[in-house]
Amino acid sequence: MAATSFDLVVIGGGPGGYVAAIRAAQLGMSVACVEKRPALGGTCLNVGCIPSKALLAASHHYHTAAHGLGTFGIATEGVSFDLAAMMAHKDKVIADNTKGIDFLFRKNKITRFTGAGRLAGEGQVVVSGAEGETTLAAKAIVIATGSESTPLPGIEIDETVFVSSTGALALGSVPKRLAVIGGGVIGLELGTVWGRLGSEVTVIEFLDRILPFHDGEVSKAMQRLLAQQGFAFKLATKVVAGERVGDAARLTLEPAAGGPQETVEADVVLVAIGRRPHVDGLGLDTVGVERTKRGFIAVDAHYRTNVPGIYAIGDVIGGAMLAHKAEEEGVALAELLAGQHGHVNAEAIPSVVYTWPEVASVGQTEEQLKQAGIAYAVGKFPFLANGRARASGEADGFVKILADAATDRILGAHIIGPNAGELIAELVLAIEFGAAAEDIARTCHAHPSLAEAIKEAALAVAGRAIHV
Ligand code: FAD
Ligand code: NAI
Repeated sequence: MAATSFDLVVIGGGPGGYVAAIRAAQLGMSVACVEKRPALGGTCLNVGCIPSKALLAASHHYHTAAHGLGTFGIATEGVSFDLAAMMAHKDKVIADNTKGIDFLFRKNKITRFTGAGRLAGEGQVVVSGAEGETTLAAKAIVIATGSESTPLPGIEIDETVFVSSTGALALGSVPKRLAVIGGGVIGLELGTVWGRLGSEVTVIEFLDRILPFHDGEVSKAMQRLLAQQGFAFKLATKVVAGERVGDAARLTLEPAAGGPQETVEADVVLVAIGRRPHVDGLGLDTVGVERTKRGFIAVDAHYRTNVPGIYAIGDVIGGAMLAHKAEEEGVALAELLAGQHGHVNAEAIPSVVYTWPEVASVGQTEEQLKQAGIAYAVGKFPFLANGRARASGEADGFVKILADAATDRILGAHIIGPNAGELIAELVLAIEFGAAAEDIARTCHAHPSLAEAIKEAALAVAGRAIHV
């Protein structure tokens, strides 16, 4: 029988929990991880980051083969796709990745319990699994139970006609009409998948812009480029009712500020209006763990809840609800528990939207700097003036760097363009190192490369870009 007493028990095996478990084991702790899903990896590996990128890649290849090669003198005819095979690719990627975490657990001698974990008094976690209940004793407990889709009142998710992101990653056929409620990251990424495969996509967004947490200029450019790809947008619009009509759905919409109603019909409706902390059945009240007004678990800078010995990380504590943020917190917390100085720099967490072109950002937006009254300089460079982007036929978008007007320190960077998600890494490092725009401007970048657009944007901060 497995041991039931550990230095650390982690509840939740997503990017926050599994990474905390591995780092703690590396540091010599005895560690258990309780996960209720049959596979480790959490939302991200099972129904989030990884499956969405598998389908984005598959649909991108199809779309390029069918419609995107003419510029290069390549004629293609009769290109078709097999949706079931695309889904099989996605499922294999998920299985390979989650098995990889099993391997890492074995390698690091982490004991895994499959079942729902709940807090049960000081230093105790009860696991309810297929074989009944097991009580674990822990010197420290980490809650890393993640998040779930926020429901939209009046709409019942059936995962066939009204779907969450989970259903949208597993549709059995391409919907002719896809309505997406919420013009955020999930809506645009999954709208892109199905749009490329032939759906007519309509995005219904409550605010007057899509991607409201991104730099305004980037959001505007993204909306224009997605419109060129066939997306329809209904901004500043709220959904007041949704009903099933036969095999399809009918939504009743109204301007956000009130006004005449209209109806929209769709074969599938994706509800993607954000995610909320997942704390069901955790027993927070039994030990008195406090939550914030928005329901996230309240923690201090060292991830301590108000109850000694209980910590929380990842989506369940809010902030950027991103896998890499959860992972960084997992590492920092394990190091703090080992008496080291773990820390996460919230200013240097990148955010990427995997549409095409991609959107990537780090640090502050222009709107945030204005609101904070910080004087800044802007350097911008379009991919249209970048040789590599033009050669690749992917010259939409730009790099925008925001630097402190007095010190030249980089405060934020925003890219919309080819491979933005990879390019942003240079700017994240720059912010982490406290670099000035001048540091990037004086760094040699390979030619021809997309990264030269970053150097040029840094030069543009001081008004001396070469190629515009
Ligand atoms: P989770 O990954 O949610 O893991 C929590 C785990 O805890 C789950 O497996 C759950 O089953 C388990 N659990 C919950 N309660 C209990 C309990 N009581 N007992 C036992 N186990 C329990 N982020 C990115 O950075 N990049 C992306 O490209 C990206 N794409 C996404 C695409 C989609 C469609 C979605 C939905 C999300 C995406 N995200 C992405 C967000 C990312 O998935 C989350 O930020 C990340 O998974 C959070 O990690 P976590 O460990 O905090 O929680
Ligand atoms: P989101 O917060 O990105 O976007 C939700 C959108 O819905 C916002 O634009 C919001 O204004 C709008 N909205 C809210 N209520 C509405 C309503 N009633 N009617 C119409 N619109 C409404 O949330 P989303 O897209 O659900 O994603 C959830 C989380 O998952 C994000 O916080 C993100 O961090 C993470 N994620 C990250 C990805 C990535 O890093 N590439 C990919 C997918 C998800």
